[in-house]
Amino acid sequence: MGHLEKMTSKKIMRMLHPSYLSLRLFFRSWGQFLWAELYNLLVLFTAVYLLQRYFMFHKLRLWLYWLSVLVVRKFMAGGFCRSDVRLNGCTVVITGADSGIGKEVAKELALRGAHLVLGSRDLVKAEQTKKELENLKGSVEIRHLDLSSLESVRTFANGLINHKYHIHMLLNIAGEMMCPYKETADGLEEQMAVNHLGHFLLTNMLLPWLTHHKPARIINVAATAHIDGRIPFSDFNYKQQGYSKWKAYCNSKLATVLFTRQLARNLKDTNVEAFCANPGVSQSALYRHVLPEFVYKHIIGFLVQTPREAAQTITYCATEAKQDVNFYYSECSSGWPSDEAMDDDLAQRLWRESEKLVGLEK
Ligand SMILES: NC(=O)c1ccc[n+]([C@@H]2O[C@H](COP(=O)([O-])OP(=O)(O)OC[C@H]3O[C@@H](n4cnc5c(N)ncnc54)[C@H](OP(=O)(O)O)[C@@H]3O)[C@@H](O)[C@H]2O)c1
Repeated sequence: MGHLEKMTSKKIMRMLHPSYLSLRLFFRSWGQFLWAELYNLLVLFTAVYLLQRYFMFHKLRLWLYWLSVLVVRKFMAGGFCRSDVRLNGCTVVITGADSGIGKEVAKELALRGAHLVLGSRDLVKAEQTKKELENLKGSVEIRHLDLSSLESVRTFANGLINHKYHIHMLLNIAGEMMCPYKETADGLEEQMAVNHLGHFLLTNMLLPWLTHHKPARIINVAATAHIDGRIPFSDFNYKQQGYSKWKAYCNSKLATVLFTRQLARNLKDTNVEAFCANPGVSQSALYRHVLPEFVYKHIIGFLVQTPREAAQTITYCATEAKQDVNFYYSECSSGWPSDEAMDDDLAQRLWRESEKLVGLEK
């Protein structure tokens, strides 16, 4: 009888487990959302309340307005990474961790126990980031890295190689968007140099130090803007076609996706996996060349994702994503890059061209 009871309770537990799990995940996802949105929701609810009370729209009940604010914010927030994976003992190299999305990713990984090596162009800012991460009990180290200089990328990579680091992950998050035309000291256009070529060189230099340690991952950060991109093979410096800030950004992000696709193919059957994460539109200083500071710091946060929300897909790629499903992720699930970004011939051609531009050609 005792045996029978045990069998039955086991069976019941097994039957209930999936629904218990999905209920738990459901509440965790809403918990994460409400926590991330606390400030936005408070401000928006108050604004709606004041508008309704003093100015207009008396016809509908207040809670209906609040409900629509909640639904819109939940839609904007996108997916949340629900993974429990710990990263104790993992060394993660991150670029762009001193602000916006990169800083939030660094916080997520610090909380999971990873040792973080931040590649920062501004060491004063990096010290502040280090303090913030250490307050979360993170283990952090900062090193100078200016991705617009191939020399700086080489020095940074060699520093890690000489230190004989066992690198488990490389997160290429740093980026520039729509800056005025500028050529780097290496004679490269700034957005292509920072967003693609600097990371291309860094990845290739660190690759041999990643392969021995499973599970190793390289995560590059894309943007939906890649859809509007073309690789300017014959005119990387926009001398003939003329410079468009937007086009140059899109082109650099298409290069990021093609680079990751080829990287994932090159790394097939090794211990290293390559992912491209699209964080979605988020409030951040990325818009510094496009919008006034007050707008990108205080206003657009109500309309788009917070950096913490945008960090979720990158965290998902660092912890959960599976290479055999896809290399491109968006909203914490498998996503769809443009047709051009899936063109293998183009990816190979870009790889060869990038090798020439950064001086890796054999
Ligand atoms: N925000 C969005 O809506 C959005 C949408 C799609 C994709 N993304 C991508 O997400 C990534 C992070 O962007 P974000 O929104 O978090 O922007 P952000 O707040 O401006 O962060 C960019 C980071 O990159 C660093 N960086 C820029 N140029 C560098 C260089 N030459 N050398 C080293 N580091 C450099 C910046 O350093 P400093 O702190 O010193 O300035 C900063 O830490 C970017 O790749 C961006 O293209 C963003």
